[in-house]
Amino acid sequence: MDSQPSRSEYKKVWSALSTTLDQAKLHVIGVTEEGALQATGEETLRFLHDTVGIGKDDVVLEIGCGIGRVGKVVAPLCRKWIGCDVASNMLSLTAERLKDLSNVELVEISGYNLSGVADASVDVVYCTVVFMHLEPWDRYNYVLEAFRVLRPNGRIYVDNTNLCSDGGWKVFEAHRAFSPANRPPHITQNSTPQEIETYLRRAGFSETRIRTNDDWIRASGIKQEGAQ
Ligand SMILES: C[S@@+](CC[C@H](N)C(=O)[O-])C[C@H]1O[C@@H](n2cnc3c(N)ncnc32)[C@H](O)[C@@H]1O
Repeated sequence: MDSQPSRSEYKKVWSALSTTLDQAKLHVIGVTEEGALQATGEETLRFLHDTVGIGKDDVVLEIGCGIGRVGKVVAPLCRKWIGCDVASNMLSLTAERLKDLSNVELVEISGYNLSGVADASVDVVYCTVVFMHLEPWDRYNYVLEAFRVLRPNGRIYVDNTNLCSDGGWKVFEAHRAFSPANRPPHITQNSTPQEIETYLRRAGFSETRIRTNDDWIRASGIKQEGAQ
C-alpha cells in the first residue's frame, strides 16, 4: 500500500482531496449543497466586514481560496480579487464558480509563500479555514508574506479553530484517537490565541485584535505606514 504524503506536502495532499467538485466542497467546508455553501460564504464575508472591511477600491487576496466559496461574495465588492491556492484542481473549480466576474486573478502557489505577488500591491489579505491544515512554521511564513505584499495601511485577517475552546478541544481529542502512523495529513490542528497574536506581532503588524467569541480565533492587524 502507498504511504500517505506528509502534512507539509500540501500540493500532493490537497490535489488528492479535490479531484471532483463534491469532494472539494466537502474538504473545503463540509457541505455540498449550493445554498448551504453560499450561506457559509456570506457568513465569512460578515467576519471580514467586522474585522478588516472590504472596500470597492481594495485589491483583496485570499491565501488558500479553495473553490472560491468566499471569493464569490468578496469579488463583487472590491476592485480586484486574487485567489491563491496550492492545488490546481481547486483553482479550476474557482475559475468555474467565478467565471462571470471580470476582476478575478488566480495564482497557483507552492504552498509555502506568495511568490509571484508583488511587494506592497494588495490592500487586504485574508486566510480562512486554512491555518488548521498547515504546520505552524508555514502559518507564520504566510503572515510574513502577507506583510510583504500588503501596501502601507493594508489589513490582514486570519483564523483558526481555538484549542482553548470546548469545540477546539473536542476536535483535538477526536484526532488524538488516530495512531501516529494513521493520522490523515490534512487533519485540523488548532491554534491558541497567543500563537496567532505572536505571529501577527512578530511579522510587524499593528493594532492586532484577536476575537475568541466562539470556537474560533479570528485575528486582524494593520501594516502601518512606514512599517518595514
Ligand atoms: C478547508 S479549504 C478552505 C478554502 C477556502 N479558504 C474557504 O474557506 O472556502 C483549505 C484550502 O487551503 C488550500 N491549501 C492547503 N494547504 C495550502 C498551502 N500550504 N498553501 C496554500 N493553500 C493551501 C487547500 O488546497 C484548500 O483549497
